[in-house]
Amino acid sequence: MSEFLIEAAGPVERWIINGEARRNALSRAMVNELASHVARVSRGHEVRAVVLSGAGDKAFCAGADLKERATMSEPEVRDFLGTLRRAFRSLEKSDCVFVAFLNGAALGGGTELALCCDLRVMASGAELGLTEVKLGIIPGAGGTQRLPRLIGAGPAKELILTGRRVGAQEAQRLGLVSRVGTLDDALELAKAVCANAPIAVGAAKHAIADGAHLDLDAALEVEGRHYQRVLGTEDRLEGLKAFAEKRAPVFQGR
Ligand code: COA
Repeated sequence: MSEFLIEAAGPVERWIINGEARRNALSRAMVNELASHVARVSRGHEVRAVVLSGAGDKAFCAGADLKERATMSEPEVRDFLGTLRRAFRSLEKSDCVFVAFLNGAALGGGTELALCCDLRVMASGAELGLTEVKLGIIPGAGGTQRLPRLIGAGPAKELILTGRRVGAQEAQRLGLVSRVGTLDDALELAKAVCANAPIAVGAAKHAIADGAHLDLDAALEVEGRHYQRVLGTEDRLEGLKAFAEKRAPVFQGR
């Protein structure tokens, strides 16, 4: 059985984590398959945005597969964490835009996976949390680093040190998700991204990431470098032409 169900619709793909019986918890096979799907969409130019959710209505992803984990030796856990970190990082660094739709619980690695995505939409009844300290571990796939970068060290410490789960309204208030909504809302967001110039979207995504922790002068240079990427594109000329002709631009990703 495939670890992900893939549904393609033009430039948007839906990836559904396919492990409903264990609440879409991340097994080794699942992480390997995630990495190969990320590599596939990052290599090609056809898929511009991915909406990621979990099978069923109970969970987006219940974190690491704790049953599999119980069978693993310490070196195997270390290996798994390395693979997990690399898979998440490759997703984050892809030109493709990832929208997490938190259709249900996103706990531990499930929240960490959502944190690697570019945009997050959360169903009103869902909850998320970095609950690892309740299990004698800490977030191991970027949670201690990405959460404070997203919402600030104070609120992140509160969530990580207590392991508290938060609902959708609070997650939105904290800036952890940008919207409380439905799958359709997540798909709409993905489509809105895909209406724009592909190279520009990728350059904007990386400019934000690369400049986030630099001082303003260095960060503005980063923006300038990414701007270079769009300067020579046909899409930039098409944008200007379409504006002059009062019509919608048709971008080719060139
Ligand atoms: N790893 C492996 N199996 C998991 C799992 C995980 N992380 N989370 C849930 N499951 C399994 C349960 O053991 C159960 O299996 P069983 O039917 O063989 O007993 C099945 O999924 C359903 O779990 P259940 O708790 O009955 O479902 P629920 O819909 O009531 O609640 C969750 C879903 C995700 C809220 C709940 O399962 C949960 O809190 N899981 C723990 C998640 C966690 O702490 N993750 C952090 C890991 S660091």
